[in-house]
Amino acid sequence: MAVLDVVTFPHPVLKQKCSEVTRFDADLHQFLDDMAETMNEADGIGLAANQVGEALRIFLMDVPTNRGSNEKEVKTTGRIEVINPKIVGQRGEMKYEEGCLSFPGMSEFVTRAAEIDLEYQDRTGAAQKLTAKGLVAVCIQHELDHLNGITFVDRLSPFKRKIAMREYLRQNQDVIEDQARREKLKARRAQQNVG
Ligand code: CO
Repeated sequence: MAVLDVVTFPHPVLKQKCSEVTRFDADLHQFLDDMAETMNEADGIGLAANQVGEALRIFLMDVPTNRGSNEKEVKTTGRIEVINPKIVGQRGEMKYEEGCLSFPGMSEFVTRAAEIDLEYQDRTGAAQKLTAKGLVAVCIQHELDHLNGITFVDRLSPFKRKIAMREYLRQNQDVIEDQARREKLKARRAQQNVG
């Protein structure tokens, strides 16, 4: 298993519409294990494949289900691997303050459906179904947006987005410049390998 690099905005892969997974093989299982380790390490409750640079329709989640209660032990959904997801039903509306591993330091209120029905495939390719509400539903909608090249900032009003982005870019200048340098190096190396 390996911890993968989580890309931060404005990495172009975050704007990419991800492709369906068609092969449920050992390579996929390795990738899912790596994603799980990456999500754990980053203390995330959800992680989309394009956040680690692979434009595939995959996300993982492990969402607390007793947040806000006084219980010391945090209960979660357990890790759920979601492949080729489709929201087939949605009800109600809720507002939740979301964050995103690709936008370090940013958190903003986003309005989404309060309850959703999801169809997806597991790592064997078998069809699965679940109904989720509250934070689990929020997480699914946030991650599914990622797979369509949409981030939670795109869900804000233009005015709020402008303020949030200005603050984000100010706070993360070094990280963003570092990432751009690494991407340039990678592109140059790829070019050299071809020629
Ligand atoms: Co995110």
